[in-house]
Amino acid sequence: MANKIQILPVSISSRIAAGEVIERPASVIKELMENSLDAQATQIEVWAEAGGKELIRVTDNGEGLLPDEAVLAFERYATSKIREEEDLERIDTFGFRGEALPSIAQVSRVTLTSRLRSERANRTGENPDLGVRVQFSGGEFQGETRVPATEGTEITVTDLFFNTPVRRKFLRGDETEGRHIYQLVTKVALSNPEVGFRLCLDGKEVIQTPARKDLRERVADLLGEKETARLLPVDYEVSGYRVTGFCGAPDLQKSSSQSIYTWVNRRVITDRILIRSLADGYGMMLAKGKYPMAILYLQVPPGEVDVNIHPAKLEVRFRNSGLVHHLVKRAVELGLSRAIPETAPTGISLSPEDVQKAGRVAAMNSTDFNFRETGLPFTPGSVPRPVSQDLFQREKRGGFFNSLKVLGQLKGTYILCQSERGLVIIDQHAAHERISFSRLAENWSRAAGELEELLIPVNLELRYDQARLLSQVLPVVRRLGMEVEPLGGNSFLVRAVNRYLLSAGYEAILQDILEELSLLPNPDTLVEGKLGPIIARMACHGSVQAHRVLDREEMQSLLQELEEVEQSPFCPHGRPVFFEITEDELEKRFRRT
Ligand SMILES: Nc1ncnc2c1ncn2[C@@H]1O[C@H](COP(=O)(O)OP(=O)(O)OP(=O)(O)O)[C@@H](O)[C@H]1O
Ligand SMILES: [Mg+2]
Repeated sequence: MANKIQILPVSISSRIAAGEVIERPASVIKELMENSLDAQATQIEVWAEAGGKELIRVTDNGEGLLPDEAVLAFERYATSKIREEEDLERIDTFGFRGEALPSIAQVSRVTLTSRLRSERANRTGENPDLGVRVQFSGGEFQGETRVPATEGTEITVTDLFFNTPVRRKFLRGDETEGRHIYQLVTKVALSNPEVGFRLCLDGKEVIQTPARKDLRERVADLLGEKETARLLPVDYEVSGYRVTGFCGAPDLQKSSSQSIYTWVNRRVITDRILIRSLADGYGMMLAKGKYPMAILYLQVPPGEVDVNIHPAKLEVRFRNSGLVHHLVKRAVELGLSRAIPETAPTGISLSPEDVQKAGRVAAMNSTDFNFRETGLPFTPGSVPRPVSQDLFQREKRGGFFNSLKVLGQLKGTYILCQSERGLVIIDQHAAHERISFSRLAENWSRAAGELEELLIPVNLELRYDQARLLSQVLPVVRRLGMEVEPLGGNSFLVRAVNRYLLSAGYEAILQDILEELSLLPNPDTLVEGKLGPIIARMACHGSVQAHRVLDREEMQSLLQELEEVEQSPFCPHGRPVFFEITEDELEKRFRRT
């Protein structure tokens, strides 16, 4: 049988998206796993050491390579997957450029060992017992030998970027690179349930999922039973475009888009249109600034999507993005319409009313908020002060909040007070949140603020990537107001918390913290400038004061605390905590003037 690999003519290779294919260890693993999938493997195993910087090994039980092919595979534009220009329009394999192996070999030392699957060996007349081994270093061919090998292909990549020290320097710490690998393998495994996967990081097995018939089982293997139980099936088709998968129950709301997994024709793709369509499907159910959880597979006729626009194939271009938007939005709406209202087993459970409220809280960064009652605009980043700044400053010296006389509580939500100039209405939830925010910020600035020991420490089981990140950032989390002790593996114990977090859902807070931290380039060295959004989220959890009847003493002490935090140098980007209706305004309303 002829060699399966050929070098693409310039007419095709010149049309292939050029650029950096290999950015970090996870990109090497992505390319190698995709090759294994294209070779019809049913079991793929990945090893990585030191975040993949020292060693990466991917083995598969795919069709294998002939000795000639093994050498040719490392030539640029050498591919078995396309032949003609038209093939570019109808790609149904992950690979098509013949770029990946040469790009990897250029910046590392690579050993490929491969033995043909027996049916292919029989057809080619190859000695079925021996395999081929080829080695490259920094792009240079080092030699070819015959070796005993098992069926399939094993590729080992060591010393990544050894010959490009600048790029090596840009790699993150082992833990962070390890997390990228974990997330990548998770995504690839989620879209290939019929293939078994195993991932070992530094000798420790962190993913092990057998071939599955049922996608839900695969999702549960990787993302945990608990959240999987809260996923609603999605399946919708229009004009040959189809979206399947799951969307999270509306109360499963996240602080970042990290729990949104999307694929286009089985490729891991992060696409703005997909995320926006998904959010539009949730509509009002989604609090502002929150993201749902979703696992969505979009299938588009090959000619309707261009997968050749990004060097690492992480983006695509849709011919009909309007249809994609409609499809995903409608699919999610239909999926959600089947939602059975039920409270989440852990974390915060939100009623539609809560969600609406959370929306207001999360509007903290919104610039379009207008303080309609008084017509005064609210600028984010400043304390909302519908009263004139001057007056406020003057009164503050004497203690504005201290000067208020509590009149009573309205609907368990607002505190009504008499001020020097008229009536002040305080939103008790916003006030409480504001206080928590400032106290948490104080705790941070004191570096070792006091925490309250929990009477019964709370045990948490996290996902592998969350657990790794948490182990890395324990001192940061301590400074943020939670003392967490690692118990080994993915288990942790919450021992003590800032008093403003008592009675909150610790797991939900930690997940929010971890989500926020994972967005930072150096999560373990959180800088003050990045603190705001994290603490704002935490304060949100701790503040459960709305719809609670407060007695006069409690209202008084809330005012007292507001007074204290007003002096704090930390300025929450909050929605209005209070506003004032002056006597003049009242007189105008009653036409007394
Ligand atoms: N694990 C594997 N099993 C069998 N054949 C493989 C394997 N990995 C690579 N090959 C062969 O080597 C060729 C080159 O691989 P490479 O990844 O460089 O290019 P590609 O997959 O064709 O395109 P792309 O650059 O888009 O990934 C492939 O076309 C395939 O024929
Ligand atoms: Mg490839």
